[in-house]
Amino acid sequence: MLVSAKDMLQKAKAGKYAVGQFNINNLEWTKAILLTAQELNSPVILGVSEGAGKYMCGYKTIVGMVNGMIDELGITVPVALHLDHGSYEGAKKCIEAGFSSVMFDGSHYPIEENIAKTKELVATCDELGLSLEAEVGSIGGEEDGVVGAGECADPNECKMIADLGITMLAAGIGNIHGKYPENWAGLSFDTLDAIQQLTGDMPLVLHGGTGIPADMIQKAISLGVSKINVNTECQLAFAAATREYVEAGKDLSGKGFDPRKLLAPGFEAIKATVKEKMELFGSVNKA
Ligand code: 13P
Repeated sequence: MLVSAKDMLQKAKAGKYAVGQFNINNLEWTKAILLTAQELNSPVILGVSEGAGKYMCGYKTIVGMVNGMIDELGITVPVALHLDHGSYEGAKKCIEAGFSSVMFDGSHYPIEENIAKTKELVATCDELGLSLEAEVGSIGGEEDGVVGAGECADPNECKMIADLGITMLAAGIGNIHGKYPENWAGLSFDTLDAIQQLTGDMPLVLHGGTGIPADMIQKAISLGVSKINVNTECQLAFAAATREYVEAGKDLSGKGFDPRKLLAPGFEAIKATVKEKMELFGSVNKA
C-alpha cells in the first residue's frame, strides 16, 4: 500500500538522514527502485514529473502499475508515490488518480500567489492524508523543457510557506537539475542554515541530487535536508550500461535482442545507483 511521505520524512529529519526520491520512467525503473528499497530495508519515494506522467500513459496507469508491483513483488517498506514539480492542475489530477504525495511547484509565481495556491492544496491533502511539498526559490537547470537559472530562496518566504502546514519544503540553494557545470559555485549552506533556523522541524528537500559531491550531501543533511531527489543519475547509468551491451554486439548474438535481455544491464545499473544513493543518504535499514 502506498503511504504519505510525512512519517518517513519526519523520522528522517529527527534521525539526521535523508530519504531518496527517485524519478520513474517506465516499468524497469519502477521495479529496480522498489526492489532495491526492499533489499536495503529503506523507505523510498517514487517521483513522477508531469512529462513522465504523460509518457507513462497518465497518472492512473502509474498508480495501477505501482500498486500492482508493491503487491506482486511483496514490497513491505514504506513507498510514497509523489508528483514532482506539479502544476496546480497536475496536483489535483494526481490526487484524484491515487498518488499518496504531491509537489505543487508555485516558485515561479509571485509569493502571494504561491501562498494562496499552496494553502488550498494543504486543505485538500490534509483531508485525504496525503503529503504535500511546496517550493520557494527556483531550482536551476532544465526540466521538461523549462530552463531555470536557479536562485537562492528567501528564508523569510520559506518560513511563510512552511507555516501553511505543508509536509516538506523544497528551497533553492544553488542546486541545479541535471549535470552540474564545471564552474558551479556549490550549494549555499548559509542559505540552507538560515532556512532551517526559521523553519525548525520542517523536512527540507534538496532537488538536483545528481552529481552533488558526497561531502556536500552530508553537510546538507546535517543542516536539515531530509529528502533528496535523484533523476538524471539513473538515466545516465541506464544509458551507459545499455550502450555497453549494444557496443559489445550482445544484441546480435543469440536472443540478445529480447527486451528482457537488452534492458537487463540498464536495470541493474539503476539498482546499483539507487543502492549507492540510499547508502550515502543514510536511509538503509530505516524502513
Ligand atoms: P537531477 O535530475 O539533477 O537528479 O534532479 C532530480 C530532481 O530534482 C527532480 O525533481
